[in-house]
Amino acid sequence: MHAGGAARLRTVTLAVLTLSLTAAATGCGNDSGGQSGEVKVGIALPTTKQTRWVSDGDNMKALFKKQGYKADVQYAEDSVDEQIKQVEKMIDSGDKLLIIGAVDGFELGDALQKASRAGVKVIAYDRLLLGSSNVDYYASFNNYKVGELQAQYIIDKLGLKKGGNAGPYNIELFAGDANDNNVRGFFAGAMDTLSDFIADGQLQVPSDQKRLSQVTTYKWQAEIANETMTTRLGDFYKSSTVDAVLAPNDGIARGIIDALKKDHYGTAGKPMPIVTGQDAEIDSVNEIIAGDQSMTVYKDTRKLAEVAVKMAQDILSGKRPETNSDNNDSNDNGNKVVPAYLLAPVSVDKSNYKKLLVDSGYIKASDLN
Ligand code: GAL
Repeated sequence: MHAGGAARLRTVTLAVLTLSLTAAATGCGNDSGGQSGEVKVGIALPTTKQTRWVSDGDNMKALFKKQGYKADVQYAEDSVDEQIKQVEKMIDSGDKLLIIGAVDGFELGDALQKASRAGVKVIAYDRLLLGSSNVDYYASFNNYKVGELQAQYIIDKLGLKKGGNAGPYNIELFAGDANDNNVRGFFAGAMDTLSDFIADGQLQVPSDQKRLSQVTTYKWQAEIANETMTTRLGDFYKSSTVDAVLAPNDGIARGIIDALKKDHYGTAGKPMPIVTGQDAEIDSVNEIIAGDQSMTVYKDTRKLAEVAVKMAQDILSGKRPETNSDNNDSNDNGNKVVPAYLLAPVSVDKSNYKKLLVDSGYIKASDLN
């Protein structure tokens, strides 16, 4: 857990999900039509507002089904109370394992405790569950790397060199929801990569909004980022222009691009600045093709679903799941270092989206302009 999280460490209440497991995984099949002997799996995810979570749910459901498990996917639409209710209900239905993408990783302690007392194992999905010992494993992407890729893209596109004297270029910084633990990793990766260029003046932040607490965006809402960008343009760019925007995900990037366009960016006299993103959403890949958004960070949610389902199967058959990041302090949830399997994110722009997204089957060519 990064420094910010520790201060915010609050008892965590929690959600659970159930996993249904027919003997199929162990090959002895459920000849009795599937009901008896089934172990249930449920999946609690934060929202359907960002399309990646819908893919996550669909991917895991399909994988569990293929293995003969019954999976129940629940979305909390960014409501902590709703997610707790959903998970409490799942625990009470006697399930043996939980996969949780938390709305707020700080708010699930009591339900995690309830899960533990019920012998329910817990996998934190994409976002780390915080402050509790009742988290068994963590499956995610390397969040620090996501921020590094976004920042490095800006540095490369502006042609900045360490110790150089390019610019000064104007950059504005945005981050995601303050209660999403991933945001600390994203922002730390980005700022650790940008800091030398801000320190030596090749990059400057006219709004002076540089600390995480100053640039978070409530519930990752694009509308809020749109308003923030509009205000900053009005207050700090009367006689200058923006050269780059660190946008933490695609939804927020599109909110920012809309504000920039309203201020006549993307016209001959006022080129669109470099705008980053994350999640390779179809609408943003189309913005990249159109030249409005510059890049996105691709996280193959099919792979993350495979990792989480394999972890669940191993846990339920008494095996220790494979992990590749056990002593990494980014998995320290303030109570323990949660053993994790972290996948690598990839930088995507106009030059490689076909190969990485279309040829890999992540996005259909017919969905792109
Ligand atoms: C993060 C997730 C990102 C993005 C964001 C908004 O936790 O890692 O991929 O989707 O939430 O939902």
